[in-house]
Amino acid sequence: MTASLPASGERLSAQLGLTERVLAGPRMRKLLRVVEDGLDRVEQTLARELKVTDTLADATTRYLYEAGGKRVRPMLTLLTAELGEGATDDVIACATALEMTHLGSLYHDDVMDGADVRRGVPSAHAVWGNNVAILTGDLLFSRASQLMAQIGERAIRLQADTFEQLVLGQMHETVGPQAGEDPVDFYLQVLADKTGSLIAASAHAGALFSDAPSEYRDPVRQYGEKVGVAFQLLDDVIDLSPDADETGKVPGTDLRAGVPTMPYLLLGRSGDPASQALKATIDDGVLRIADGADPAILDDAITALREHPATEATRQQAYEWADAAVEAIDPLPAGVVRDALVKLSHVIVDRSS
Ligand code: IPE
Ligand code: IPE
Ligand code: MG
Ligand code: MG
Repeated sequence: MTASLPASGERLSAQLGLTERVLAGPRMRKLLRVVEDGLDRVEQTLARELKVTDTLADATTRYLYEAGGKRVRPMLTLLTAELGEGATDDVIACATALEMTHLGSLYHDDVMDGADVRRGVPSAHAVWGNNVAILTGDLLFSRASQLMAQIGERAIRLQADTFEQLVLGQMHETVGPQAGEDPVDFYLQVLADKTGSLIAASAHAGALFSDAPSEYRDPVRQYGEKVGVAFQLLDDVIDLSPDADETGKVPGTDLRAGVPTMPYLLLGRSGDPASQALKATIDDGVLRIADGADPAILDDAITALREHPATEATRQQAYEWADAAVEAIDPLPAGVVRDALVKLSHVIVDRSS
């Protein structure tokens, strides 16, 4: 399977576009400047912290970092830091360490999902093999922990607790629901754990390390977890997108690999014969691909699932989780930060990459 790779300029504009969309308009101009300055500092810290003396490790660690990424998590940390004293050194260090944790999780995730393309480039295991990709992820987690240790015990605990939740989410996704467990409810918990955990920690870290009033910590953490579920539901819709240039991923990667996604689970709940036939085609295709068949055998099924009401229902669920995220920040004072968080929740469910 091949996907045409977007030029680095296009990737950069996608990344810039997110912050600019969230912080659009004259009222947000000052906050936009503050967040952009903060993101620059995070970028500089990432570039410094990702250097490794070993030549191969240096190349593998920097590989996906240099390929791009939206930097959603540091942006969120910088936003919630504005509820306190702003982008303190600890805020920047923590935002960087959480982004490094995210980066490491991508190396592992692509091995687990058999994903060949990430951020518009061949994924690390496709270039260096599984062992090097896994070890690079481990190296990134070590570096993230070293950075957290410079901040102190609260940061180390945040990192450890978040990472445990993320790993358990990935493990539960891999193992699947037990007999008697509802697959959709089970999957929503997987999303909260594998994706919501890190986004919640990013929101929490900004409030914590800027010394914002302590009563804001829980609302922003709740917001992060819920917006994280919305984000991942959209990721499941994006998995079915035909536009590899925009997504930077191969269309239908998760579906072809038998990784559960919400559109597939909702398809399973649709009782009509056409839906059940589509599900049977997908299940059969997944088994045949695992046995070495050409992944393209599922191309038509992916198009059919994209156009099935289950995909629209997934999008609808993402909107509901984004609304719940907004409700969670009700206790925050009215102002540009709360408005920006509301806007971020909208942008997340309207994104296409
Ligand atoms: C991808 O996250 C992995 C998920 C948890 C969905 P992002 O969509 O934030 O990835 P980048 O950092 O922009 O590449
Ligand atoms: C990624 O989830 C979650 C983590 C990396 C912890 P997915 O596997 O659904 O994300 P993509 O689609 O590969 O980015
Ligand atoms: Mg994946
Ligand atoms: Mg995955």
